Amino acid sequence: MELAVVPLHHYKKYMSDCCKLINDEWKRSETARMRSLESSSDTLPTSLILLKNDQIIGHLKLSPIPSISDACFVESVVIERKLRGKGFGTILMEKAEDYCKNHLQLKTIYLSTQGQEGFYSKLGYQECQPISIYGNYTPTTTMCCKNKNQYSNGWQGAPKPPPLPSNKINVNTKIYMKKNL
Ligand code: ACO
Repeated sequence: MELAVVPLHHYKKYMSDCCKLINDEWKRSETARMRSLESSSDTLPTSLILLKNDQIIGHLKLSPIPSISDACFVESVVIERKLRGKGFGTILMEKAEDYCKNHLQLKTIYLSTQGQEGFYSKLGYQECQPISIYGNYTPTTTMCCKNKNQYSNGWQGAPKPPPLPSNKINVNTKIYMKKNL
């Protein structure tokens, strides 16, 4: 079995299959998805794909974090449905970490997840405070983010999200995690 993790923009023939793979998990218009994939470049953002015998079976996207130049945010990690639980997600993440460390010279990877924390903690990711990839955000505390007060500290320079009504506390709250490379 031949496996390779490569930047999508160097293998554009996989663009359409990559779009299908991601949209099979998270429905979005094909146009919007393709636009996002086409933004992949040698500097961030970068989409990495996992190829097995020249077929695309996995994808993840590395996005910049404006306020932390030596870190990135991993998003849209997905392995083809029928191949999950066979170690391919681990291979994709480990190769992406090598790429971040050795190719992009990054020091930290951040991500957020709802329900896949077990997968990431096995890979060495640890829970951390929320981080914004849109505004300027400077972490100031070591608090975690499991309850409705998750945003009560730490947000600087970005609008504070409105508090959740007490009857709408989401048990599946996003968990933020990070790993130092
Ligand atoms: N919770 C707990 N443990 C998990 C989970 C989970 N949700 N998923 C996998 N694991 C464990 C596996 O049991 C395995 O443990 P083991 O080493 O003791 O056997 C270990 O993590 C490694 O599992 P892999 O087989 O490498 O994972 P897989 O190939 O299935 O890929 C992935 C994991 C990417 C989460 C896949 O299941 C998937 O595509 N899920 C749907 C899309 C999704 O939710 N992606 C994550 C979104 S979050 C983000 O993008 C940052």
